[in-house]
Amino acid sequence: MVPAARPAATAAFAVGAVALLLLVIPPPAAAAAAVGVNWGTMMSHPIHPSAVVGMLRANGVDRVKLFDADPWTVAALAGSGVQAMLAAPNDQLESLARDPRRARDWVRHNVTANLNAGVDVRYVAVGNEPFLKSYNGSFINITFPALKNMQRALDEAGFGQRIKVVVPLNADIYSSPENKPVPSAGSFRKDINALMVDIVNFLHVNDAPFVVNIYPFLSLYQNPNFPLNFSFFDGATKPVYDQGMVYTNVFDANFDTLVWSLRKAGVPDMRIIVGEVGWPTDGDKNANVKYAQRFYSGFLKNMAKNVGTPLRPGHMDVYLFALIDENQKSVLPGRFERHWGLFTYDGKPKFSMDLSGNGKDNYLAEVKGVQYLPSQWCVFNKDAKDKYKDLPASVNYACSNADCTPLGYGSSCNGLSHDENISYAFNIYFQTMDQDVRACSFGGLAKITTTNASQGGCMFPVQILSVSGRVAPLIFLPISLVLLVSVFTLL
Ligand SMILES: *[C@@H]1O[C@H](CO)[C@@H](O)[C@H](O)[C@H]1NC(C)=O
Ligand SMILES: *[C@@H]1O[C@H](CO)[C@@H](O)[C@H](O)[C@H]1NC(C)=O
Ligand SMILES: *[C@@H]1O[C@H](CO)[C@@H](O)[C@H](O)[C@H]1NC(C)=O
Ligand SMILES: *[C@@H]1O[C@H](CO)[C@@H](O)[C@H](O)[C@H]1NC(C)=O
Ligand SMILES: *[C@@H]1O[C@H](CO)[C@@H](O)[C@H](O)[C@H]1NC(C)=O
Ligand SMILES: *[C@@H]1O[C@H](CO)[C@@H](O)[C@H](O)[C@H]1NC(C)=O
Repeated sequence: MVPAARPAATAAFAVGAVALLLLVIPPPAAAAAAVGVNWGTMMSHPIHPSAVVGMLRANGVDRVKLFDADPWTVAALAGSGVQAMLAAPNDQLESLARDPRRARDWVRHNVTANLNAGVDVRYVAVGNEPFLKSYNGSFINITFPALKNMQRALDEAGFGQRIKVVVPLNADIYSSPENKPVPSAGSFRKDINALMVDIVNFLHVNDAPFVVNIYPFLSLYQNPNFPLNFSFFDGATKPVYDQGMVYTNVFDANFDTLVWSLRKAGVPDMRIIVGEVGWPTDGDKNANVKYAQRFYSGFLKNMAKNVGTPLRPGHMDVYLFALIDENQKSVLPGRFERHWGLFTYDGKPKFSMDLSGNGKDNYLAEVKGVQYLPSQWCVFNKDAKDKYKDLPASVNYACSNADCTPLGYGSSCNGLSHDENISYAFNIYFQTMDQDVRACSFGGLAKITTTNASQGGCMFPVQILSVSGRVAPLIFLPISLVLLVSVFTLL
């Protein structure tokens, strides 16, 4: 019923000539697969970037959005043909705003040098969601000056036409009033409206797009009464009607709220790129493979057909969020935050997915050549009965230094028994510490086993070989453990 109404309505809008063109000229196959991905690297054990780039190419992913300009990652893109969006993180906004020379250095080092090395740099992002409400306005005064300095530095270097400066923003910078929840009532948030008008007009003059991150999952997560089906593209039963437009999913409604906000800010034709869109697979009752697959399937089909949104039918530029799970991301937004990957920590696709939008039931190509640590796990040693009183502190220690989010309510390991819970914590800590034997002691409460400790849908991972030159947090381990152990002996 309603899902069918969408394509039908779109077809009705298409005037004769356009419809004919579409029929005669098939869309180029490559355009269908033209999806970007966000490549974040906040993980304890990053896969070698060259192997990741090989996987991107095998899957026809032709562009990536990074959150910094980390040389190790960026170098892997050289000569790959994969386009890159590099970024200056929020903590650099202040110096970039204050000193134009910083922006020039940034461009020389991160843009010019990389271009010379064969990296296809297309965008430079200034900050990441700097106006997020939870930042309490910390970046309000410095983002626009930083943006202007970066643009000037790029212009001076001669790249102003070829490389666009953008500011990826979260969808919480615009909204519709609660008593009129339709896209046409939307506008930029009151506290930053004047600033946003300046920014979008500046971007527009420089022919740069607006980059927005839209999360139907968060609509659901933040509002227990949110209609589940409105998060997806296939099942809404109660559409939203607005000025002759029909909305059957929250993504379209949200995107068009931005379109209206831009109109009201004086840039009605501004190009929009979706900087982040995706669905997590763990860490919340609605974060699972089934929903993620449903979301991506509907989304990618619309992408492939160039459905667009009611106000912006046609091709949409999109970066999926995200490439690989990141076990060191902050869980402040929620426990799901470490589970946005299309791929698991070891570079395996989590579910079948067809980036071309043809709905084929295939898995994406995995990352090749990933090496694992030995097949061993760290589990609870039930024989250490005399030490049970130290369990809470030990589990707490393990979970403060490794990722226990799968244990939470509604998550993949929530069904574990009390003892298995402890094993999960000990094992994930042990693996994160590269299976160092000292990380599977906990004063005798833990022991190493070669029996796979995974339980049903709850995976006890074996970590991969760390290839990064980063210093592991292991240095802190012996000291803390010594303290812990000596406390035990004293008691
Ligand atoms: C290059 O970019 C990274 C990430 O934004 C930053 O940390 C570094 O300081 C930049 N280099 C220069 C010379 O500005
Ligand atoms: C923002 O303010 C809240 C409440 O006052 C506080 O808990 C939080 O730490 C602040 N966040 C930042 C990034 O300053
Ligand atoms: C930003 O600038 C305004 C006006 O100068 C000032 O009132 C405000 O405190 C500044 N905010 C921050 C976070 O620095
Ligand atoms: C939600 O969508 C699914 C799949 O299209 C459908 O089977 C179900 O009846 C819908 N539920 C509601 C409450 O509309
Ligand atoms: C397992 O650990 C999680 C997270 O700490 C907790 O919510 C859950 O209640 C625990 N389960 C049992 C059976 O102790
Ligand atoms: C352990 O078992 C799980 C679930 O059966 C499986 O997916 C995983 O590959 C196994 N791990 C190893 C290292 O054999």
